[in-house]
Amino acid sequence: MNLTATIAGFNFEHVMLNAAGVMCQTAEELDSVLASAHTGAVVTKSATTNLRPGNPAPRYYELPNTLGTINSMGLPNEGFDYYMDYVTKKQSQKPIFFSIAGLSKQENLDMLHQLQDSEFSGLVELNLSCPNVPGKPQTAYDFEATQAILTEAFAFFKKPLGVKLPPYFDIVHFDDIANILNQFPLAFVNTINSIGNGLVIDDDTDTVVIKPKGGFGGIGGTLVKATALANVRALRLRLNPEIKIIGTGGVTSGRDVYDHILCGADLVEVGSQLAIEGVAVFERLERELADIITKKGYSSLAEFRGQLKVIA
Ligand code: SIN
Repeated sequence: MNLTATIAGFNFEHVMLNAAGVMCQTAEELDSVLASAHTGAVVTKSATTNLRPGNPAPRYYELPNTLGTINSMGLPNEGFDYYMDYVTKKQSQKPIFFSIAGLSKQENLDMLHQLQDSEFSGLVELNLSCPNVPGKPQTAYDFEATQAILTEAFAFFKKPLGVKLPPYFDIVHFDDIANILNQFPLAFVNTINSIGNGLVIDDDTDTVVIKPKGGFGGIGGTLVKATALANVRALRLRLNPEIKIIGTGGVTSGRDVYDHILCGADLVEVGSQLAIEGVAVFERLERELADIITKKGYSSLAEFRGQLKVIA
């Protein structure tokens, strides 16, 4: 069975990887994702120029009954140089995504310049969608700002570059963001980041479950699957075919991976469930995916990728 994918000339021997933010802050965590026999790549924690401790704890919470998670991590990361050191020294057969999330347009452009001038030969993810930095709105909800940063970035950046998007909830917004993204030679879009600024309450104490931002945080896991699939599907129908799609959100079973691919995902990222289950999740998900593919009589992902049926 062929569970491979290709983006910008990079071959992925397995269809899954971690979502940025989960198991990717330290070299040890990144190594553990790469070491799994069931991952196709790894993505680094989205980096800022300088090390950030992130928001105060508690900043991550798992809802009961595997409903999902809420987090307001606030981009804790080891700083750009740490990840640059990791990716340039790492001898890996698997492609590496270097994710960045500057707190301003200029910070993002400065990091992209450094990546352009470096020996790094993998893929770069520009995260325009972190909902958890107090006072910093998600750039990709501002269409003018998104167009502006991509215009400036592609004026000099020549390595494979993609963007991490927040979920959109309106057909007009799918049209608007796709019209902007289609103007640029993007290697991929990654959809979705967590659904920003949800609120979860503890039944016993009538208190929010995370401390930052008065309890508001990004929602992930089972709760977000329908929104994630809608975004993968809507963007696959609108984006130039050269722009590949990484589907992220709501993946807890092999069927969820299958559904992302059915909607058009080339690769699938696992976030909340990786945090809950650890790196062994990839083996289970791949086995469940392979069982479904076998039962349906397919032998490769390409046979059903994007082949979602609608009711006539
Ligand atoms: C965080 O660190 O708060 C999450 C990162 C993200 O949502 O992009």
